[in-house]
Amino acid sequence: MRIPIGSQLNVKDSNLHLEGVPLRSLALEHGTPLFVYSKAAMLSALSAYQKGLSGRHARIHYAMKANSNLAILQTFIQAGCGVDIVSGGELARALHAGCAPGHIIFSGVGKTRTEMREALRVGIGCFNVESMAELHALNAVAGEMGLRAPISLRVNPDVDAKTHPYISTGLKDNKFGIAHGDAIGAYELAHQMPHLDVIGIDCHIGSQITQPAPYLDAMDKMLDLVAAIEAKGISIPHIDFGGGLGIDYNGDTPPAADQLWVELLAKIDARGWGNRHISVEPGRSLIGNAGVCLTEVQYLKPGAHKNFCIIDAAMNDLPRPSLYQAYHEILPLQPRSGLQQTWDVVGPVCESGDWIGKDRQLCVEPGDHLAVASAGAYCMSMASNYNTRNRAKELLVDGQQVHVIREREHTASQWQDERLI
Ligand code: LLP
Repeated sequence: MRIPIGSQLNVKDSNLHLEGVPLRSLALEHGTPLFVYSKAAMLSALSAYQKGLSGRHARIHYAMKANSNLAILQTFIQAGCGVDIVSGGELARALHAGCAPGHIIFSGVGKTRTEMREALRVGIGCFNVESMAELHALNAVAGEMGLRAPISLRVNPDVDAKTHPYISTGLKDNKFGIAHGDAIGAYELAHQMPHLDVIGIDCHIGSQITQPAPYLDAMDKMLDLVAAIEAKGISIPHIDFGGGLGIDYNGDTPPAADQLWVELLAKIDARGWGNRHISVEPGRSLIGNAGVCLTEVQYLKPGAHKNFCIIDAAMNDLPRPSLYQAYHEILPLQPRSGLQQTWDVVGPVCESGDWIGKDRQLCVEPGDHLAVASAGAYCMSMASNYNTRNRAKELLVDGQQVHVIREREHTASQWQDERLI
């Protein structure tokens, strides 16, 4: 049984605990599937960034797409974070959770004019613009409102983040950002637009990045570009370096955020630009290993070719294995001492793709509880109601204290906006 680094999971008296709380008692009291997050794990992940960027003009913008629960947002906001959003819905959530509008960054390739208007109305800190067409649209919307929109251009530095193709974003053929070769022209255009204020530059090269090299290459390319843009008389006071730092799912060894930033800041300092404002947009590395999904074993179905362990969590709760063939550690809450067998751990959804873990060594019986680890990021926020399954309940553990941060969904609330004809 391997406990992922940074999770605050620990075994006491043969029981898996999160911080000081035995997880089996939570599963019995609140039912399953159940997401449980550790506040200490969240704050400890955040502190690595805070340490790495201390003494700088810097802000950590939590990429809330990773997990947008209000209490998760509130925890990061109260710890000093701004928020990175990608939709009007995320804007509303961030404001509701208490984020100052000026600490919000709006990313994304397809912002609608309605979303732009709302973000301008509340006064967000920066739009990360991803195309020439979007520059024109934002300039027009801001003009209609008699405002100027603060912008960075998201530049695609064309580096390979060496991650899963679905979550690599910094390559030439990705839909994201403005091509490196077009960046100077785009800045010249933006600079002339009457309703835009160019305040910075942005990049984001992918997600679950586990090596420093792609980041270091991207930083070199971005800084060269800043020099070239400034040579045209357009100043770039703010550098947003995106998110993407990986976590330990399966023995992965990403660099620690503070270590990585020592190296990245050295590059900025080498140009004499240590006073620039720096932003980062981490999601997964702040919340991914702070969460587990608790589930109950329903049935065991041994077979001639495969043994299936059927649990009550599914691809609608934990979409990452079916979408990206992702690995999540699966840990028994009360490990048994018997013989381990090889199981495919699967959900009840009517799809062969509904698996959570393949070929796992487990000693389990129906009624046992398991924890799917590293489930804080991109699980609940990507959960669906497929098969009319209710979305799970969520708890936040803080030492011995347990807070309910989302009730279990009810079936009737799933259809409340539908109408019979
Ligand atoms: N900034 C931008 C512009 C982004 O597109 C993303 C993530 C982030 C920041 C945060 O990246 P992070 O630090 O979390 O890696 N659903 C996928 C991950 C998709 C990431 C999308 N963009 C998964 O489950 O692996």
